[in-house]
Amino acid sequence: MKPTRIIIDTDPGVDDALAFLFALSSSKISLEALTTTQGNVTVDKATRNALAILELAGAGHIPVARGNMLPLVQPLRASALVHGESGVGNANLPEPKNRPVGLHAVDFLIEKILAEPGQISIFPIGPLTNIAMAIRKEPRFASAVKELVIMGGAIREGGNMSPLAEFNIYVDPHAAHIVFHSGIPITLIPLDVTHQCILKQEHIDRLLKIKSPVSKFISDAMHDYMAFSLEIGQAGCVLHDPLTLAALLAPELLTLREYYVDVDISGGVSMGNTFADFSNVSKKPVNMKVAVDVRGDDFVELFLTHMETLGRSIQDRTK
Ligand code: BDR
Ligand code: CA
Repeated sequence: MKPTRIIIDTDPGVDDALAFLFALSSSKISLEALTTTQGNVTVDKATRNALAILELAGAGHIPVARGNMLPLVQPLRASALVHGESGVGNANLPEPKNRPVGLHAVDFLIEKILAEPGQISIFPIGPLTNIAMAIRKEPRFASAVKELVIMGGAIREGGNMSPLAEFNIYVDPHAAHIVFHSGIPITLIPLDVTHQCILKQEHIDRLLKIKSPVSKFISDAMHDYMAFSLEIGQAGCVLHDPLTLAALLAPELLTLREYYVDVDISGGVSMGNTFADFSNVSKKPVNMKVAVDVRGDDFVELFLTHMETLGRSIQDRTK
């Protein structure tokens, strides 16, 4: 079977980095590019991290396009508590040898998607600024994207940035509003399911048994995220962004339901809240599939097995 072609739009970000490694570890996925945005860190740091992580994984040939510096309306935010000042925790990644491509991420996305309509899916795992701008800039963009698999939102669950809003949507709710109403087929992976996928210290110790730059990177990158997670009462680090790839690699682990989902951009306490019309009282047509449940432990095991395989292959390559 031909691999599924994807572009990841991202703000790396510790769990973003794990999502790239996960995508690279599977022959079922062809990772065609990374496009970067602000979010966990500035777009400059996000771009540097994206290039450096690809090089660490021996995938320096994959293009990286640098995107927006600011959300559409809101001010810039960063989440150093979780991701560290650099965006990759304590990992000391060497300066990347490659440079981002000459095109802005929005133009890069438009060019790639329009060149082969209906062929490429986009996995946005940061704020949706680039995707919203591509929709607004090129009217043919929305109908040419195969699918969006978005990490974002909190449907029945509370938020992680405000009581009602999840980080990626909170940072650029206006972009999310444009994307949710674009008509692009969407699968949403919200906090409701990511919170069931927890990477524990014992899992990191298991990965460290393989002497590979991949295991070392994961351990270093997750060090402070682990401490922060334990401090706020979680059993370990939530694998938010990697879970999007379950939609391709193990869809049987996810329970999806179709809903009309909207995002609050009215500016009050619920700004950035994502809400589903469970009983279809608004009579609006369904605009996405939402993951409402996941077999979390099975997902973590799948992720670990893939990281072990990737770790071994990188160890072999460097022998
Ligand atoms: C999301 O916020 C970011 O900090 C993570 O990388 C993830 O994409 C979870 O709310
Ligand atoms: Ca992210």
